[in-house]
Amino acid sequence: MLPTMKRFVGLFLAFTLLEAAQIPLEALPTFNLEKNDGDNWDISIAPGENVTGHLVFETVNSLMQHWPNTRYRNGHSIVPGVVPSGTVLYHGRGDANTPTNPEWLATDPEHSYMFCRGQTADSGCWQLMVTAIRPLKVLYLDGSAAAKMPDGAMDSQDILAYGKVVPEKYRGERERIKYLCDWTKDLDVDGFVRMEMDFEIMLCDFTKGVLVEAINLRSRPRGGPGPGGPGRGPGGPGGGPGGPDRHLEELLPPPEIHPHHDSSYTPKAHINSSALPNMGFSESINSGSWHRYYPGETRIQLDLTRLVSFYDTDLVPSLVAERYGKERIRHRLLGISPEDIQTVVRKVEELTAVSEAGSGIDWATLIRLIVKRYSERLEMVQYILNSTNPANSAAENKVLAENIQVQLTAMLQPYMLFTIKPPQNSTSTNWVSPMYELCATTYTNYITTSSLHSRLTASEDLILDGVQKTTKEICRVVTGMWVDGIMSGLEPDFYKSSATENDGNVDLAPLLNSWKERIFGLMKWLDWSVWLKCRPACGFEEMCYLPMWPFRRGSEDSDDPQPRCERRMAPLEAQGF
Ligand SMILES: *[C@@H]1O[C@H](CO)[C@@H](O)[C@H](O)[C@H]1NC(C)=O
Ligand SMILES: *[C@@H]1O[C@H](CO)[C@@H](O)[C@H](O)[C@H]1NC(C)=O
Ligand SMILES: *[C@@H]1O[C@H](CO)[C@@H](O)[C@H](O)[C@H]1NC(C)=O
Ligand SMILES: *[C@@H]1O[C@H](CO)[C@@H](O)[C@H](O)[C@H]1NC(C)=O
Repeated sequence: MLPTMKRFVGLFLAFTLLEAAQIPLEALPTFNLEKNDGDNWDISIAPGENVTGHLVFETVNSLMQHWPNTRYRNGHSIVPGVVPSGTVLYHGRGDANTPTNPEWLATDPEHSYMFCRGQTADSGCWQLMVTAIRPLKVLYLDGSAAAKMPDGAMDSQDILAYGKVVPEKYRGERERIKYLCDWTKDLDVDGFVRMEMDFEIMLCDFTKGVLVEAINLRSRPRGGPGPGGPGRGPGGPGGGPGGPDRHLEELLPPPEIHPHHDSSYTPKAHINSSALPNMGFSESINSGSWHRYYPGETRIQLDLTRLVSFYDTDLVPSLVAERYGKERIRHRLLGISPEDIQTVVRKVEELTAVSEAGSGIDWATLIRLIVKRYSERLEMVQYILNSTNPANSAAENKVLAENIQVQLTAMLQPYMLFTIKPPQNSTSTNWVSPMYELCATTYTNYITTSSLHSRLTASEDLILDGVQKTTKEICRVVTGMWVDGIMSGLEPDFYKSSATENDGNVDLAPLLNSWKERIFGLMKWLDWSVWLKCRPACGFEEMCYLPMWPFRRGSEDSDDPQPRCERRMAPLEAQGF
């Protein structure tokens, strides 16, 4: 435990110098070397099958980002947040009136314009600009909670609106918003945040906290190309009188139309403008895509110290058995026990009443840092391993293995203690345990062993566990791969294997195979959305697109959405440029 001792000394010094003056003696952290009881630094012990820490880690890493929540549309988090004063939101409708009922607001006008409608063909259409005049308190439901689908996207809302999951009501938007807002009557909540093509806010009361201005806009041109793109908008030709109650589901294109991905497209084909895909819908896909990646849609500021997760197995034990043996894409809340529903709803109600200060730890940045540090390097290792081939010669395999060892070493460099040395006469790998431990606890050791720990909210404790479980498994696998590289003689100055001693041209194919299995296993377990991308990358005239509601039908609804390049515009080349 020498490394831990060293850190203890360093930590203690820093602590003494910086904080001793302000902190009474009894508040000094207890440096308990066995603090993480149950922790075992044996690299052969993998995480349990029902562990959810990595799922908490990645869902927190994905909050308010369009891309990951398009793939995993069945939300598992409810997070209180705030829309700051001055934020402008949009509501398209058929008249200039301020809604007297709860209604939907778009964060981007590209999205609300789909609902901008006029009473007659030549009266233009109406868009309300709705500005927050005080911070609006919202509850964010992650996943694609505005995707009107029966297989899980709406589960978390159902639990708040109905106190149970009711898949058959998946199209009952008007009732759902009413029940949700009825539930908030006694709570300090102005609305809910959900996501479909773009983010939206369900605002319960348009007379509270917002300034509403109605603007008469030019209607979307019908038929033929024109300003705003070619016609055939989502409202259908003619539009008709749009009632104030209209919502997206009423404006859906018929199921057989795939407006965004017309397979008849071939890049070099002659352009026939009436065959262009529906650009009316794609503008909201476009605006949604601006919020794809971290930090995502920042007009809604979440409070992670009050996050509730259905992956919290202490809070929601009944879902452990429901998830058992299922791919993440199939995880949903159906099957949750009535007791767990009560616990969750009560917890959310409690959390909306408090404004917990929490520890002050910037969890989003910490999680992001871990993803940054490892994502490209793990991908690089996988990339190199992808080029292995049974036909490779021993010399070729050696080059590949050395390349990989460089990446593994780079990941572990900050944890390579001077004191660790492989034994020359044993194949045991226990000697890397101190390195594994340092790697796995580097970001959290102070949090878990100091008085800071007592300041964590329950939500922060859950996030901390996610960070710990995730880093532990990354460090376990990477350390295990690195040590096998060492023992195979890839760093002869550090360790001479019997093969290198005999100057033999050792065959590294078994090492490469075992590495491959482990890196694929780790990356599948982590399942980070940063790895979900179009390969090769799309051209400028295209967009990397994940199938999403309502542009997906049939088998696509149940399949795991995968990205592909779709055209953003007709190919210029085909138009003679
Ligand atoms: C353009 O496409 C439409 C529908 O796909 C078709 O009816 C029309 O004949 C085409 N026009 C030309 C000039 O190819
Ligand atoms: C995981 O959960 C399933 C379902 O509840 C249970 O049968 C299994 O024993 C659990 N596995 C472990 C290692 O706890
Ligand atoms: C490696 O190959 C697998 C398919 O076998 C692929 O899914 C993965 O994206 C590849 N990784 C890289 C980094 O190219
Ligand atoms: C391994 O080598 C060390 C010295 O380097 C020696 O003390 C130890 O007894 C040896 N162990 C075995 C099993 O040969």
